[in-house]
Amino acid sequence: MNLTTFQQTSRDRVNSSLSQTINALPEHSETLKQAMEYALLIGGKRMRPFLVYATGKMLSVQEKDLDGPAAAIEAIHAYSLIHDDLPAMDDDDLRRGHPTCHIQFDEATAILAGDALQTLAFEILCDYPLSSELALKRIELVKIVSQAAGYHGMCGGQAMDLAATDQHITQQQLADLHGKKTGALLSACVEMAIALATDITPESRQNLMIFANTIGLAFQVQDDILDVVADSTVLGKPQGSDQAQNKSTYPAMLGLEQAQAYLDGLHQQALQALRALPYNTQMLVSFTDFVIHRTY
Ligand code: IPE
Ligand code: IPE
Ligand code: MG
Ligand code: MG
Ligand code: MG
Repeated sequence: MNLTTFQQTSRDRVNSSLSQTINALPEHSETLKQAMEYALLIGGKRMRPFLVYATGKMLSVQEKDLDGPAAAIEAIHAYSLIHDDLPAMDDDDLRRGHPTCHIQFDEATAILAGDALQTLAFEILCDYPLSSELALKRIELVKIVSQAAGYHGMCGGQAMDLAATDQHITQQQLADLHGKKTGALLSACVEMAIALATDITPESRQNLMIFANTIGLAFQVQDDILDVVADSTVLGKPQGSDQAQNKSTYPAMLGLEQAQAYLDGLHQQALQALRALPYNTQMLVSFTDFVIHRTY
């Protein structure tokens, strides 16, 4: 299967389980439900579900056992985007080519939609039909997602991002910040697939996590570059938002050319970690190339 077909298949699969989950919610707050659906289901590349399915498939995990992790991580991601766009954070008005959640609805609804999508992720992990022999893994999945989303991961990274705005930080601090705010959720995708795999050596686990951490950082470096070079219409979010706010980013720190060279280095490191694995890594190689070369 090629990248495009796999991308399409995993997108359809996660979209269908997410819309089923949203449709099943009772109607006591129609507006909140609409805001959750809006942020979750209007667009998005679905890169994190792709990573869950591609890694899981490589490790011979059944697709149905990956559905919960794929949907849960996308719900956390959607929540992180709603809150990231709020006036108190990046104050952006365009997301996935549409008005951001707080513009389409209102700030209070957007805050609550983010909160409710976060907890929905854990409901999904607790409830999805997991093969009985993997039943004890459920708590591990919950732990992986909670650590990646909270203080140790995305929220901690977002706080570091805010603290680094209008400030000079070191390159090491920037790597740490990016690794937490963006890398942690991407790494969690790989970690969940590993958790569900029944036969993986410690060495393979280690190489896969090196791959995950590298691609997680690379994802945000490319996001920073796109903020400078892409077009808002293609990007679906406001170009130049980082510069307008004086954010700490790789292009701001190193200049565009050096940021690109740094990204190329991460690309090679990620591929090297994949080469060390005793599996068919073709889909993860394609994923890596896509992350580095994407235009949106
Ligand atoms: C954007 O993530 C925010 C970051 C963490 C860099 P994506 O580029 O995956 O956004 P969508 O889901 O495709 O909209
Ligand atoms: C966001 O980083 C990371 C998140 C945790 C959402 P950015 O602020 O650069 O993401 P975009 O560019 O708004 O998507
Ligand atoms: Mg931000
Ligand atoms: Mg932002
Ligand atoms: Mg950005």
